[in-house]
Amino acid sequence: MTNEWAVVTGAGNGIGAVIARNAVKEGYRVAAWDVDAAAVEAVAADLGGACVPSVVDVTDEESVAAAVAALPVAPALLVNNAGIARFGPLLTLAAAEWRAAVEVNLTGTFLVGRAVAARMIEAGGGAIVNMASINGLAAAPNAGAYTASKAGIVMLTEHMAIEWSPSGVRVNCIAPGLINAGMSDAVNADPEVRRLRESRVPQGRLGTADDIADAVLFLASAKASYISGQTIAVDGGISKGALASLPRPKSVDSVGVE
Ligand SMILES: NC(=O)c1ccc[n+]([C@@H]2O[C@H](COP(=O)([O-])OP(=O)(O)OC[C@H]3O[C@@H](n4cnc5c(N)ncnc54)[C@H](O)[C@@H]3O)[C@@H](O)[C@H]2O)c1
Repeated sequence: MTNEWAVVTGAGNGIGAVIARNAVKEGYRVAAWDVDAAAVEAVAADLGGACVPSVVDVTDEESVAAAVAALPVAPALLVNNAGIARFGPLLTLAAAEWRAAVEVNLTGTFLVGRAVAARMIEAGGGAIVNMASINGLAAAPNAGAYTASKAGIVMLTEHMAIEWSPSGVRVNCIAPGLINAGMSDAVNADPEVRRLRESRVPQGRLGTADDIADAVLFLASAKASYISGQTIAVDGGISKGALASLPRPKSVDSVGVE
């Protein structure tokens, strides 16, 4: 049990709601931030007094500054989880959709990250976990705006880590794979699409929001005290499977084998 504060953005739904719940179980008091007031209030109501909901838009610097100032103490943990998906081919993608993805996913991570880091640094340290995606590690069909914004989070994590680790703030990133929660619910709702997606995962299943929350809480813990600037794919191995279905003649495949 930590008895410290954690800030979780995008805590009203999906993965963020589960991170908030599991952080409370671990002993954190959670500041749950989201633009979706009803959702974040419902999450907090379920968790009782250990979770305090606030309506915070991660793209709005003033909204972020006010929420950070309202925290009773410097948080020990920030999870920059809020995110949106915007899909479509780059040739026809509306610039507004591109901007929305970059603004929420990348700029939001930057704005909340630096505002919270300033308080952590004053207090002597903390841990930040940014939420990317395997789409930030590999291109995917019609996902150009999302992939670019998520790849930006991977590099922003590295930069935050080199700037803030000397002041005691470790910064890491998680790249979730095919998760059975949140924004992927609509994708997984089609049984045939779901079966095909599961079949491409070396571990043979979709990930859960708990898989992601476990990784977040590990990176926040003392067990990760020498880890900073890293991106960990929590994806059942799918991001390492680019060559998995590449054929090779049997004669060549058996070279070196008795
Ligand atoms: N579900 C997946 O398969 C998956 C896979 C890889 C990465 N991710 C990432 O995990 C994170 C959580 O995704 P999810 O699946 O739970 O999605 P979700 O849509 O269920 O939840 C995202 C939350 O972010 C909030 N949000 C959106 N814009 C915001 C803003 N401007 N300010 C504050 N809050 C805002 C939404 O209201 C929502 O509650 C995202 O960053 C997403 O990109 C999800």
